[in-house]
Amino acid sequence: MKRILIIGGTSGIGWAVAQQYLEQGHQVIVSGREPGKIPQPYPPRLSSIACDICQRDQLEALFASQAEQSLDLVLIAAGFYFRDRFHPLDGATTCRMLQTNVLGLDLALTLASEHMLRQGFGHLAAIASVAGLLRDYPGASLYSATKKAVLQLCETYRIALRPFGIHVTTLVPGYVNTAKLRELNEQDVSRKPFILSEQDAAMRILRAIDQHKNMLVFPRRMHWLIRLLNCLPAAALKLRRQESVRK
Ligand SMILES: NC(=O)c1ccc[n+]([C@@H]2O[C@H](COP(=O)([O-])OP(=O)(O)OC[C@H]3O[C@@H](n4cnc5c(N)ncnc54)[C@H](OP(=O)(O)O)[C@@H]3O)[C@@H](O)[C@H]2O)c1
Repeated sequence: MKRILIIGGTSGIGWAVAQQYLEQGHQVIVSGREPGKIPQPYPPRLSSIACDICQRDQLEALFASQAEQSLDLVLIAAGFYFRDRFHPLDGATTCRMLQTNVLGLDLALTLASEHMLRQGFGHLAAIASVAGLLRDYPGASLYSATKKAVLQLCETYRIALRPFGIHVTTLVPGYVNTAKLRELNEQDVSRKPFILSEQDAAMRILRAIDQHKNMLVFPRRMHWLIRLLNCLPAAALKLRRQESVRK
């Protein structure tokens, strides 16, 4: 039985992953700002800890609470995104996005690495997004930039931790049909290309981690679409951007 910590495991993709690990018989600790969102009663071997990854002291307390026990896997699924057309970017939003998606994630990777270096083994994983692979993501450049940072940070930790036998897997999903995505799209996600259910996304994530993949971009068709879009000449990208602003 493995001990697995999922940061950002109280809903969406993180919670779907937690459920699949529980079904496999592992012990799972989920954290988020609102663990009360998790349906009661808790299944056996599940525990939760409240933690805002934007708050250094809370993240440190989370890892301190695990100091006496081993962690086989730490998955960082916490992330902040919004629908930019309806949510103007202001200083507070920018700050929150950078703190959640970049600074919080980086601190979580640091603290998890320290824990795993002390115990001498472990596996780290983090959820980025295909938005971080796109050369130009119309109208969502800040989110896209934070996810590019996730890709880069994971690569950096992967190289640094490899000599110590600690592996890092970067998970790069396209659209996943979570309550959050539905909420941001007036409950209509029918036009999101190649959208996956939470369960399907979680299954792919578990498999990639199990296979010690460096990076998984999924679904494959979305990866091809991104590659195609990245090949478009600058003029076509400009048109796409203008179209997105008009919508
Ligand atoms: N859904 C998609 O289509 C999609 C596509 C590509 C990438 N992603 C990425 O996948 C991840 C999960 O997305 P999702 O759709 O599953 O969203 P979600 O349901 O909103 O899940 C986000 C999780 O992160 C936690 N979280 C958010 N801010 C936090 C903070 N400051 N501190 C601690 N935990 C925090 C939330 O818990 P609390 O509310 O309890 O804090 C929740 O457990 C995100 O990183 C997102 O960027 C999603």
